[in-house]
Amino acid sequence: MEKYYISTAIAYTSGKPHIGNVYEIILADAIARFKRFKGYDVYFQTGTDEHGEKIELKAKEANLTPQQFVDNIADEIRTIWDKMNTSYDRFVRTTDKNHEQQVQKIFKKLYDNGDIYLSKYKGLYCTPCESFFTENQLVDGKCPDCGREVKEAEEEAYFFKLSKYQDRLVEYIQNNPDFIQPESRKNEMINNFLKPGLQDLCVSRTSFTWGIPVDFDSKHVVYVWIDALTNYITNIGYDVDNSSEEFYKYWPADLHLVGKDIVRFHTIYWPIILMALDIPLPKKVFGHPWLLFGDDKMSKSKGNIIYADDLADEFGVDAVRYYTLHEMPFANDGAITYELLIERINSDLANVLGNLVNRTISMANKYFDGNVSNKFIVDEFDDELKSLVNELETEVTIKMDKLEVSSAIDKIFDVLRRSNKYIDETLPWVLAKEEDKKDRLETVIYNLLEAIRVAAVLLESFLPETSSKILAQLGISNKSAIYEENSKYLVNEPVPLFLRIDKEKKLEELKELI
Ligand code: MSP
Repeated sequence: MEKYYISTAIAYTSGKPHIGNVYEIILADAIARFKRFKGYDVYFQTGTDEHGEKIELKAKEANLTPQQFVDNIADEIRTIWDKMNTSYDRFVRTTDKNHEQQVQKIFKKLYDNGDIYLSKYKGLYCTPCESFFTENQLVDGKCPDCGREVKEAEEEAYFFKLSKYQDRLVEYIQNNPDFIQPESRKNEMINNFLKPGLQDLCVSRTSFTWGIPVDFDSKHVVYVWIDALTNYITNIGYDVDNSSEEFYKYWPADLHLVGKDIVRFHTIYWPIILMALDIPLPKKVFGHPWLLFGDDKMSKSKGNIIYADDLADEFGVDAVRYYTLHEMPFANDGAITYELLIERINSDLANVLGNLVNRTISMANKYFDGNVSNKFIVDEFDDELKSLVNELETEVTIKMDKLEVSSAIDKIFDVLRRSNKYIDETLPWVLAKEEDKKDRLETVIYNLLEAIRVAAVLLESFLPETSSKILAQLGISNKSAIYEENSKYLVNEPVPLFLRIDKEKKLEELKELI
């Protein structure tokens, strides 16, 4: 069985993740589920990034030890991932003992090989962002990321020789045109970072202690990126001296899924760390766009943060999954607002999907007591529907192979829309009035049930709960994604999948809640 290793970024345990962070795990989940459906041996890894000065400060504010603080948030993150029905295989934490040990060994190996050296770091430092900046990176003299004061700082630090590997990396990117996706991100990396030349990277700190100690120089802790990025290998058994079978089985990763803001770390720092360790590079890094609140970045200070678990409580998990997967474009940022979410639920989930399933199952019950099989009384409208159903898996696969998840979902909804149109064309309630059209009527209902079944099978990757609800209502377990000629249906009572929401009323209710 061919393997497929997919990872998400590991989320910072500095606070509760918002819907933007959760979008990433949902997206990864859809890809992982689809690969499983296609027969791959999938390994899907996610987790939390738990060290750093910011977390140390937050823990202090909360009157907790850093460990207690990250334990709480990591739990919360995992609970949200689970609530969103994501099927990860392993949830890793950078405070896992094995990870910490391996990071120390990796750091030492890079030092022994001469890729890491001791020097001094000078610059303007923003504490909340844990970043040094140069004078001209500042905006109005303040931190370009958060707008807060920066302070002059100098510290002894270890540096990693990125520059030594620059040419090899450029060559790799050129020889592997799919390595960085989408294309626009690749150009950004080449033009903004590689062409001007790489500066060596600061990889240790002495100004805080909440990190993995450098074991041969204990005033230093390993600074974020070597600690964070290596999660992708330490947790599948990489060991400097003796890696596990699992490591050789799953590495290199097939896909690192990350947000656009950290593409640089994954396509420049990470490949160079791997080159220095003499390990193969990941096959693909996909920098997904960001989910914005309307046109705005979500932030605590703007008070416009939306949390996935709140949305799931209000609208259901699959509505949230549908919205994020379908509304996020491939390369440009997407938007979420309560209005947009309600409109989508009403138009796509309640009208197109919910109605089709409900109408079809009701007719199967009303006209045939739920018992439906193919009577082969074919008419002009049938062929088009059948061939659309039969092409669906291929169409969805083509889109998913390009990671165009929103378009993959569109393909399924095209078939659902076509099925609704088929009802308008074939007019089952008219056929029902004529006794000699009974077999034609049964064939029509049969075709609809098959279209719904195949759509439900393919929806599993995106809306797992809805998919199984539909199959349960259809009373069938066959999960082939082709039109079968000889299925036997004994359908159950229809249960509405998604109710239409009264937008104005719901918005009023939400106002009170928020
Ligand atoms: N800890 C680092 C990643 C280290 S990976 C070795 C980090 N954590 S994060 O919690 O800030 O972000 C987690 C993921 O969520 C990142 O991929 C980030 O790009 C993504 N997103 C953060 N805000 C987002 C949106 N508004 N929309 C979509 N994704 C967003 O970065």
